[in-house]
Formats: sequence, structure tokens, C-alpha cells
Amino acid sequence: MCGIIGYLGPKSSTAVLVEGLRKLEYRGYDSAGIAVVSGGKINLCRVKGKIKDLEALLKKNPIDGDYGLGHTRWATHGRPNEINAHPHQDCQGKIIVVHNGIIENYIILKQKLLEKGHFFRTETDTEVIAHLIEENFSGCLEEAVKRVVQLLEGSFAFACLSTLDPEKIIGVRSGPPLIVGVNDKEFFLASDVVPILDHTRRVIFLDDGEIAVLASEGLKFFDFSGQTVNKTIMELNWSPLMVEKRGFKHFMLKEIYEQPQVIRETISGALSLDTGEVILPNLAASAERLKACRQAVIIACGTSYHAGLIGQILFESIAAFPAKVEYASEFRYRDCLISPEDLVIAISQSGETADTLAAVRGLKDKGGPIIAICNVLGSTLVREAEITLLTQAGPEVGVAATKTFSAQIAVLTLLALWLGQAKRSLPKEKALEIMLELQRIPHRMEEILNCQDSIETLAHRFASYAHFLYLGRWISFPVALEGALKLKEISYIHAEGYAGGEMKHGPIALIDEKMPTMVVIPKDRIFEKMLSNLHEIKARDGLIIALTDSPADLGQQVDYLLPIPSTHPLLTPFLTVLPLQLFAYFIANRLGADVDQPRNLAKSVTVE
Ligand code: AGP
Repeated sequence: MCGIIGYLGPKSSTAVLVEGLRKLEYRGYDSAGIAVVSGGKINLCRVKGKIKDLEALLKKNPIDGDYGLGHTRWATHGRPNEINAHPHQDCQGKIIVVHNGIIENYIILKQKLLEKGHFFRTETDTEVIAHLIEENFSGCLEEAVKRVVQLLEGSFAFACLSTLDPEKIIGVRSGPPLIVGVNDKEFFLASDVVPILDHTRRVIFLDDGEIAVLASEGLKFFDFSGQTVNKTIMELNWSPLMVEKRGFKHFMLKEIYEQPQVIRETISGALSLDTGEVILPNLAASAERLKACRQAVIIACGTSYHAGLIGQILFESIAAFPAKVEYASEFRYRDCLISPEDLVIAISQSGETADTLAAVRGLKDKGGPIIAICNVLGSTLVREAEITLLTQAGPEVGVAATKTFSAQIAVLTLLALWLGQAKRSLPKEKALEIMLELQRIPHRMEEILNCQDSIETLAHRFASYAHFLYLGRWISFPVALEGALKLKEISYIHAEGYAGGEMKHGPIALIDEKMPTMVVIPKDRIFEKMLSNLHEIKARDGLIIALTDSPADLGQQVDYLLPIPSTHPLLTPFLTVLPLQLFAYFIANRLGADVDQPRNLAKSVTVE
């Protein structure tokens, strides 16, 4: 969850590291620091707070160097303060380490190091790595690191350098991601590709159990047993412009606005309206195995889990294909009965969520084919899954997922159509009807975005409420969950997503004039039932905002309306989620919240 950056090259290291940290800040933002080496001397700068605080301190006390490491932290061990901020050092201050993840056996290691006379400056687990390298060092940094990785337990990625073996940066991966960027005469190391994109699109993804050596004479890779590994350089198709705000106040707002284009890109080339076929080339090689599957087991966390719930309904209704959806964090600890006829679908924007990866690893050789629905090429999930369906959302920087959610449901719609086609359970006319309407979705999304002002006005009217209920049924239930998640994660307002029919079994007790209800009520098969829920709320003096494509049918029963265009009932989530994202955004912005970097959160959750 922390962000690591390393640089070795001719530019100002401080400038490259700080700019890199700015791009990585969404991974963690409670403290930050850099270490740069100049003239054989290490210069350190660390602060509690954000990258802007680090920049302010660097302005007051400038440092620079020929190479260096930087870190932005999401605290696990030790409070977020200056002392615990990375980089950390050995006793002599000649070895520098930045780390992401957890060293689970650090207490035992620390005890042994204390007995050997090492002294510790911080409360972190990371510091043991610096002292272990010191203890194992005999002239060559990578040799010391090879010995140290044998001693560490847990899930970690770290980078280190030492003035005792200069002009060298070592990167180690055993869990969280670490990527090497290659340019003429310069090397980068980072927790994800975003900070590297400013400099080069040529990257190498470290695999688990690998060590990268970035040195002025070139690159080397080893596995943890010390064997040389040959790695391939990949060319990314993301551009640096994609990670700029481009005039928007926040990344989240920009990413909400990108959704029509994201859907266009994600479905591009997949719909053959002449033949009524869905073409997903990545499935071709496994088509027979996929056809043989009897049900889907969808695994994901957070927003991706909500997309999975929509996927379940799409599979059932489009392909007559049974599906169940599981929280990866729960699934990994259950004794699940899974068979080779189960199609496993792991959904993750980042492809680095520790729980999702652990659940998928637990299923290997037990279930059937594993499909990853992921936004990041080269991510761990993509490299471990048998089949990948990429969401073409481009980099998502806002911590609250928006455009990747829409892209995930676009991929799930395509997959449902493909399965229906492959299993011959989907009549051609029905497929065509959905395909035609799917093509129109980007345009319908643009219509909603054009009504931004009225959504903003409504959001401001509701910004002072402390609690919200979000209700939906059938395919709108996951949307209600997602709308509530968006509101709570960026505005810190309590919001509960509930299935409309379940309200009478408990949550109705909460309804009063202080608890508004956002009702997601498109005109679908469950519309009339949702109307009954509206009556129940009104009878208890509840305030209702209705998100609907059928305002005329709601009449006086609701207090406020959020109108959306009509679409095919199975595609309404594309349109209902958008106003909910904007509603949450405008409330959070009105309250002055840090929309892109909400407290306590991090973009990719690479620890359990
Ligand atoms: C979404 O707004 C959240 N930040 C979070 O729930 C996220 O969806 C979850 O951590 C899963 O991430 P992933 O898609 O990268 O696996």
C-alpha cells in the first residue's frame, strides 16, 4: 500500500523522486521521504504528512544526488510520524531501505539483531531489513540482499542502496508489485508504472521471488536462490497525459467524465452487429474448456465485488449461466467446494489486491479456468491468471474507483454475451438487442454528464446529512451498494446500501426525516415492487431521492428526482452508477474532503 520509487541516471534525483512520489501518493499518504546519494554521502529528508509537505521541507533544506530512493507511506507498523517515515537506515547510516508490505517475523529478527549490538531508531518492521543487510554485507550489496531475503517472512517489496557499494539500486519482490523502467542511460524502480510513464514506456515487471540490480553498468535479475533470470522488456500503451488532471479539480471527477470513452474502448471490436456475435479473441484458445464449465465463481473486493454482483445477474439473465460472487477476503479462508467445472473469475482494477490474489492462488489446480478482469497489464493477477480480459480504462488515480467499475461491467456484459453464445443459451435477437443498446451506452452516459449542474445542486442540498440509505433491487442492488461505498469513502458520511425488499426486515427502523434514502429505481421488472418500498419510506416521513428513467410514474411520492435516460434493463447500472458517483463527489467536495486521497485508504490494498 506504500509507494516506492528509485532513480539512477543523469537527471536531478530529487526532482525525479519527488515527482514520482506525487504520482504514487494515492498508494499511501501519511508520511513520505527521500534519500539521495551525492559524493558518497547520503542525504535524507522525511516528513509526517503528504508529498506537498515533503516538497516544502525540501525547498527549505534542498538536497540532491546522483541516485536515490523515495517512499510514500501507509502505516502498518509504527505510527505515521517523521521517525517512522521511510527511508530507513542501518546503524552506520550507510545502507538505505524503502519498503512496501509487512515483515511478519520482524520481532524475532529485531531481537536477534539487538543481541548482536544493532540499535534501532524506529518502530517499523522495515528497519530490520537495513540492519540485516548490514549484518550480511561483505562488499557486494546484491550478495547481502540474496542472503537477507532468505531470512524474511511475509509479503514485501523493498528497494535499497548503499554508499559501501555505490551507483547501485536493488529491488526485491515477494508479494507487492515492483517494476523497473528502462530508458537511455537511466533506470527507474517503482511500485507501479504511473511514475515511470513520465520518462519511459519500456518496463520490466518483477515476479515474486525476484531481485533486480540497477547499476550504472546495466541491469541484472536474480531469483531468491541466486540464479540469473532473463526478463523481457514490455512496451506500455499508456501515456503520461493519462495521469494528469487536465483541468479537472480532482482525478475522481476527470475519471467520472472519462467513462463514455472508456466504455467505447472496452467494447471496441467486440461487437459484430452483422452476425450478432461477440468476439473476445483472448477466450478463443480456451473456448472448449469454458463451454464445459457449469457455473462461475466470481471473486473480488470492494467496488470490484459490486461489479461482480452485477456480473452474476448478467450471467444468469443473458447466458442462463449460474454464478456466485464471493468476497476474496472471506473466500480465501473458507473450505470452499470447488470443482474443475467451475469457471473462476477474479475481478480487480489493480491486479495487486492481496486478498484477491490469495483467493485465486488457493484455487489453482482445484477449479476450472481462471479469468482475470483487470485494468493493469503486467499486474500480478494478469500474470497468474490463465486468461485475461483487460478493461480499457487507462490509469485510475483517484482512490475511489469509478471508471474501472464501469469498464468491469462492460467486460462482464461482453463475457455474459459470449457465454450465452458459446453455450447456445442466448437467442440471437436478444443478443442483438443488448449489443445494440450497449453501443449506445456511451452516448447515454454523456447525456447524464451534461446534467452535472443539477446533480451538484442536489448534492449541496444534502451535504449536511449525517446518514444515508441507498436502496435498489435486482440489478440495481449492487449499484446501491456502490453508491453508498462511494459516499462513505470520500465524504466520510455514513451510508448503507440495502436491497429494497430487505428494508422491512430491519433498516426501516432507521427511517426518519434525518435519514434520506437514495432509491435506485429504473423502470425494470422490479419497478412496481420498489414503488411499494417508496410508500413504506414516505409513510415514515423519510426523504426520498429517486434515481429513475421514469419520473412520470413516481409522481408525488418522491421528494427529489435524479432523471436518467432509458436503456435495456440489464444495462441500467452503467447509467445509474454515474449520478451516484457525481453525487458523492459533489458532497465530498462541498465538505472540503480530500477527494482523491481519502483518509485511511490506499488505492491498491497489497496487504491482508
Ligand atoms: C473502491 O472505491 C475502493 N477504493 C476499493 O473498494 C477497491 O475497489 C478494492 O480495494 C478492490 O481493489 P481492486 O479492484 O484493485 O482489487
